[in-house]
Amino acid sequence: MHKLSAQQIENMPYVEFMALLNEVNRPPGGQISVRQSIQNSFINHKSKVLDIGCNTGYCTFEIAHLAKADVTGIDISPNMVEAAKLYQSKDPLGHLVNFLVADGMEIPFKDESFDVAFSGGSTAFIKNKKKAISEYARVVKPWGFVIDINFFYHKKPPVSLLNNLNNLLEISIEPWGLEYWMNLYKICGLEKYYTFTDKVKLVSKNDVKLYCRTIAQEKKYSSEIESAIYRRLNKTMTLFNKNHKYLSYGVIISRKRPIKEQISLFDQ
Ligand SMILES: C[S@@+](CC[C@H](N)C(=O)[O-])C[C@H]1O[C@@H](n2cnc3c(N)ncnc32)[C@H](O)[C@@H]1O
Repeated sequence: MHKLSAQQIENMPYVEFMALLNEVNRPPGGQISVRQSIQNSFINHKSKVLDIGCNTGYCTFEIAHLAKADVTGIDISPNMVEAAKLYQSKDPLGHLVNFLVADGMEIPFKDESFDVAFSGGSTAFIKNKKKAISEYARVVKPWGFVIDINFFYHKKPPVSLLNNLNNLLEISIEPWGLEYWMNLYKICGLEKYYTFTDKVKLVSKNDVKLYCRTIAQEKKYSSEIESAIYRRLNKTMTLFNKNHKYLSYGVIISRKRPIKEQISLFDQ
């Protein structure tokens, strides 16, 4: 491989830049969101769970370790699945997990194969969200749960901020609110079961700098490359931090209820 230059670091796509830094992909809300998902959908050692958009398997392994459940992770990216399998080969509970390349919009499992379908922030990356959520609902058993962890805006962000984010991430972010997601589960025939929401944490400029400095130093590159990594990371994280003023996340659990529950006036 030829030598990395500061110019390349400045110009490489965001995903490649993050891969270069080996940044671990976690769901919105991180570890706590996975714990809440397990506790509130009653996943246990007898459960069969599907993790959609598993990436390198952060959530897949968390669920296997915390609940000793049988977890299958699927992702559209063969590179991510390959990396997940490498972690699996080194994990003492590797026998509980299984990874395969598959599309969340066409899940290669029969109807009612799982107790829980889980997505840790991946539905936002899937083109046809309605199709994907219908697939999550199809593969869970009656009375099973669909867990979707997602970012949403609690306050409309300025258009310039959204444009900057879209340019940086090279995707198209829409200023979706919580009701956008809730409506999707409803039209896919799922019952609202449990929702936890919180604002995304804002951090100080100093915390951003310290984080970027630590990550930039991790790989022991030359000082020129280290400075280029620091500059790009600091620019990226500063933009994310600005966005966090408007951003929340939700652990949204829906149930595949075969018999509709009667409406209630005072509960909820
Ligand atoms: C933000 S990451 C998910 C993070 C992951 N849940 C974790 O906690 O590590 C989004 C993932 O969705 C995957 N993805 C995008 N479109 C997909 C699709 N149609 N089907 C399955 N996975 C998809 C991407 O390859 C990426 O790994």
